Amino acid sequence: MSREAFVNGEYIEYINSKVHIEDRGYQFADGVYEVFAILNSKIVDYEGHIKRLNRSLKELKIASPIQKKSYKFHINEIIKRNIIQDGLVYLQVTRGVASRDFKFPKNSKSSIVIIGKNTPSNYYNNNFNKGIKVKTAKDIRWKRVDIKSLNLLPPVLAKQYAADNGCEEAWLLDDDGYITEGSSSNAWIVKNKTVITRPVSSSILNGITRSTLISSLSKVGYKFIERKFNINDIKDADEAFITSATQFVMPVIAVNNIKIGDGRVGEFSQLFKEIYFKYISLS
Ligand code: PDD
Repeated sequence: MSREAFVNGEYIEYINSKVHIEDRGYQFADGVYEVFAILNSKIVDYEGHIKRLNRSLKELKIASPIQKKSYKFHINEIIKRNIIQDGLVYLQVTRGVASRDFKFPKNSKSSIVIIGKNTPSNYYNNNFNKGIKVKTAKDIRWKRVDIKSLNLLPPVLAKQYAADNGCEEAWLLDDDGYITEGSSSNAWIVKNKTVITRPVSSSILNGITRSTLISSLSKVGYKFIERKFNINDIKDADEAFITSATQFVMPVIAVNNIKIGDGRVGEFSQLFKEIYFKYISLS
């Protein structure tokens, strides 16, 4: 069976799928995206992701290319056509195709692409059991990273810098030395049995995994605070972890080669992973 993608209203063989050379996503990163985790062929936290997609579109004044109720149908179709069991679906909307001009085109139609893939079996659990290492890097992104835009060059550079230093993720530092978030995840520490993560603002993406974990923690009555933290807090932390649709809850065992706790996957990461999976919505 060959892979299929949804491209501007049609299902096309993945290897033959194409977009126009003057798509504004390609020329200006003028578009937005969402990544949906798929578990057991079901979409994880669909409502949260679709709400954020609509918010991103609204903030950038991009019209939805399809009816709002059709998103779920097409995502499910990609899951079915590609026989995705556990994996992800990537959905991208751009302002569309127009002759290159910075101003919004008057008559373009927004473009949509949906692709999906399976992740190798046990990929998540194997990574979870090892934990990940993090490198800090300056946050050089634009000032509206609450919008999930295609403008991803700073996180690309940060993730590569982390990889060049033997790490799986970069934690980004604001001008005052506080962590904003990961290059493609939200950042958390645990100190004195309290979970700490940065409050939502235009300096971070309001992660759907983050929101689900926060509501799950409150359901089980776990102590949680939203506040900024810096490298000194990290040095004193008992545990650290990241959250995202691709990593769920993923333990961090070292930051800048400084061990977190005893440098092994800790009990809270294990507990929060279980709590998170208990409360996710699958649809
Ligand atoms: N990234 N912060 C940033 C900068 C992100 O790019 C992401 C997700 C998150 C976590 O958000 P969520 O829990 O809704 O996935 C936080 C996706 C996975 C990506 O770009 O591949």
